[in-house]
Amino acid sequence: MKFVALVGSIRKESYNKKLAKYIKIRYQEKAEIDILPIENLPLFNQDEEENPPAVVEDFKQKVADSDGLIFVTPEYNHSVPGVLKNAIDWCSRVDKVMVKKPAMIAGGSIGVLGTARAQMHLRQILNSPGVSALTLPGNEVFIGGIQNKMDDDGILSDESTIEFIDNVMNNFIDWVDKTKRL
Ligand code: FNR
Repeated sequence: MKFVALVGSIRKESYNKKLAKYIKIRYQEKAEIDILPIENLPLFNQDEEENPPAVVEDFKQKVADSDGLIFVTPEYNHSVPGVLKNAIDWCSRVDKVMVKKPAMIAGGSIGVLGTARAQMHLRQILNSPGVSALTLPGNEVFIGGIQNKMDDDGILSDESTIEFIDNVMNNFIDWVDKTKRL
């Protein structure tokens, strides 16, 4: 299986970036996970949606070629960071490359809520007509206090968090199989 991961933080030392890398390495036997850069995508402009810049075309092609989407995102002001929304907006127009793609969501924050509000918004966005991704039901990965559960190299140290993510990843892989029959 080949997944793409989109990370909602573009800062160098991002916990969510580190979490995406951790997931990529931990589950490498089960899936190839390509963490796609989104910071180089220009701001979405409807005037350009029919003929977008090459960087957008390349990004959309990678999404289209994948078997599923893994979103790993912080919460900004109780919602989804603009850089991630921008990437999704490009994918939602003309060739709608996220339609029927299975998707899972994870996120970590310094506060206790572990990006719960951002993830609620993200689920709504992924369910919009132009996006129509098939979000994994019944599974949510909220990592509150992530600074205490991950070391500087991005290795999760909290056993219960690791067990939880293992379980969700297995459910996601089953979900990807199931959605092929939809
Ligand atoms: C935040 N942060 C934050 N945290 C939270 O739990 N709820 C929120 O609404 C916000 N809002 C918010 C807005 C902006 C603009 C910033 C920069 C930060 C804090 C956030 O959880 C923290 O900075 C994380 O470390 C960001 O994730 P990365 O960059 O480490 O992946």
